[in-house]
Amino acid sequence: MAVTQTPEATGGVDYGVNHVAIIMDGNGRWAKNRGWPRLVGHRRGAERVKEIVRACPELGIRWLTVYAFSTENWKRSTEEVLGLMGIFARYIEKEADGMSAEGVRLRFIGARERLDPRLQALMAGIEERTAPNTRLNFNVAINYGGRDELRRAFARCARDVAEGRLDPEAVNDAAISARLDTAGMPDPDLVIRTSGETRTSNFLPWQAAYAEYEFSPTLWPDFTPEELGRILANFGCRERRFGGAKP
Ligand code: IPE
Ligand code: IPE
Ligand code: MG
Repeated sequence: MAVTQTPEATGGVDYGVNHVAIIMDGNGRWAKNRGWPRLVGHRRGAERVKEIVRACPELGIRWLTVYAFSTENWKRSTEEVLGLMGIFARYIEKEADGMSAEGVRLRFIGARERLDPRLQALMAGIEERTAPNTRLNFNVAINYGGRDELRRAFARCARDVAEGRLDPEAVNDAAISARLDTAGMPDPDLVIRTSGETRTSNFLPWQAAYAEYEFSPTLWPDFTPEELGRILANFGCRERRFGGAKP
């Protein structure tokens, strides 16, 4: 894919990647390597998010989705779960207005009902305030699990069929996509996982069906906009066939 200068006078480049999704992994190991508590790694990881968000528009990325907390992460100690929720709440509260001033629209995907009601209210307020922004669409996956999201979408389809709003014959890809948390959003082109693990851990199974994957050995708190730029430059050399034959 050709690398072209963006029309915006950002001084940036466009690698042809519209939507990047990131599994931010390795915070615990980063802290452990230094003999520090895991939560220190999570705090450092949160700081990294800000830098990546800021770098995205200049790299031609219009959509960024990050995996912050999975439906499986409740299995961790109460101390870690509460600590993560606290970091998340403080982080979005502190950063939302600054991001909004830079044209970032913030949205959250995942099942919200299990989250603290005050956190849910904070999230809803930020989504409303940043809704007019268009420079970067930034989604944070919190209490997100791909199977849980699909289960909820299938239940909605079943309800709509039972109540006569949906013909069973009309349950196609579009009908399912429209009932996911990501309804109306483009699918990710590229999914990056840090920390050397090569699994997807229940992240966007439907949406990333045709995404390219990149597995980086870097632990998330060490991941930089420069590394993201290198990954994107490499992505430009990939040939995406979507099931078609090589011409
Ligand atoms: C990723 O880092 C953050 C979350 C899953 C919340 P980890 O906490 O999984 O870090 P490792 O994998 O233990 O190093
Ligand atoms: C995936 O990382 C979830 C997030 C990054 C939020 P995990 O560390 O929880 O995944 P596993 O347990 O290694 O599969
Ligand atoms: Mg991990």
